Amino acid sequence: MQQISDILSFHRADRSDLIPILHEVQSRLGYIPPEAMQAAADHVGMSASEVYGVATFYSAFKFKPVGRHCVKACRGTACHVKGSEKILAEIEKALGIKDGDTSADGEYSLETVACLGSCALAPVLVVDERVYGRVTPARVKSILRGER
Ligand code: FES
Repeated sequence: MQQISDILSFHRADRSDLIPILHEVQSRLGYIPPEAMQAAADHVGMSASEVYGVATFYSAFKFKPVGRHCVKACRGTACHVKGSEKILAEIEKALGIKDGDTSADGEYSLETVACLGSCALAPVLVVDERVYGRVTPARVKSILRGER
């Protein structure tokens, strides 16, 4: 809560500062917890539900803690045609989590995205900032271990 207070102390009590506040909370904490949402609402004079409505409009904001490693599995058309569903199933099996979740040990977060912009390499997977193309279910575990 101290971190949230510190963040708020640098922002005006004005609605126009809401997005910068939310960005800074996420940057420091990795996500926007409910107490930060409420504190931001109180600070800028909005209701918590209004702030939640604004925050959920932007896909960049996260509302659950994120893992140390971020796994993004593409579910776009090109990747779908090339078998991305099997890749996603293999990731979920290997990590024991579903799309949108973080592993209990806090190591991995999994999310699906509409397109990773590398359709020619379909199916595509991104772990942290590293892009993996032409992924097969058999490669998933080695990719998650950080192997090329
Ligand atoms: S559809 Fe998967 S990278 Fe574009």
